[in-house]
Amino acid sequence: MKAVIPAAGLGSRFLPATKAIPKEMLPVIDRPVIQYIVEEALACGADEVVIVNSREKTAIPRHFEPSPSLVEELRARGKNSYADAVEQAGELPVTFVYQDAPLGLGHAVHCAAQETAEDPFLVMLGDVIVPGGSMCTRMREVSEAHGNASVIAVMPVSYDEVSRFGIVGGTDMGSGVLKITEMVEKPALEDAPSNLAIFGRYLLSPKVMELLENTKPGAGGEVQLTDALVALLAEEDVYALVVDPTEGFDTGTIATWLSANIQLAMRDEKMAAQLRPVLEKLLA
Ligand code: UTP
Repeated sequence: MKAVIPAAGLGSRFLPATKAIPKEMLPVIDRPVIQYIVEEALACGADEVVIVNSREKTAIPRHFEPSPSLVEELRARGKNSYADAVEQAGELPVTFVYQDAPLGLGHAVHCAAQETAEDPFLVMLGDVIVPGGSMCTRMREVSEAHGNASVIAVMPVSYDEVSRFGIVGGTDMGSGVLKITEMVEKPALEDAPSNLAIFGRYLLSPKVMELLENTKPGAGGEVQLTDALVALLAEEDVYALVVDPTEGFDTGTIATWLSANIQLAMRDEKMAAQLRPVLEKLLA
């Protein structure tokens, strides 16, 4: 199965930090956000990882290139663990396609149409971290149990936040799975079918690429993936897997990126030991 990582957006909510550094290259603890996502794709069994990039964001391909001279220099200085980390990043199997203008998430996904051909494929947003591969593995299991249907990860959000997300409604199938009957992008509270928000991990049937071809720009003048998924609902069954909010981290805004760094640091024994006294002092 292929994994598509859209990473060609403007990152405007992070400016000026993202003027020269892509949002997907901002570090969370010790590595850029996008490296977590490539590692997650491989951990859940993707056999190819396609990054949809912009021509301006050259730091992304550079990060995944081998750097033999840096590795050699680090080894000569006895810094072997850093050398290993650099080597590992340069060996991750990624390929690139390019989105010439940031015309929306749906448009970005469609840029990988040739790469995804006939089989279901994963879409993993380039600014959402899900450590480990278990979420997408569970999505694959749900898809396989329902004839390779599309499966979207959703998570509960508070009702006063529904208008910031794509929201799904559906029939409870048990075990945290819903058969989706409704999907609305950024609904007003009174129009929201539930508080289950689309989270940034999609396992999609190849039909989506066909539908994206005819999807007109929607909210914000951008080609929205959610609009193509609404069209998909009319033709195929689509399921939602309800995931726990602690399973993933949005890093797309300054506040969520800071929060992701703190939460992931606190899960690491050594980091937590350094950070805890600082946080305790601040909160006292
Ligand atoms: P976002 O909407 O969070 O990213 O898209 P953005 O557009 O870069 O952010 P702002 O709104 O300007 O701050 C989620 C993911 O989809 C990619 C982004 O790079 C991000 O990783 N994306 C978005 C594309 O690849 N192309 C697009 O046209 C839009």
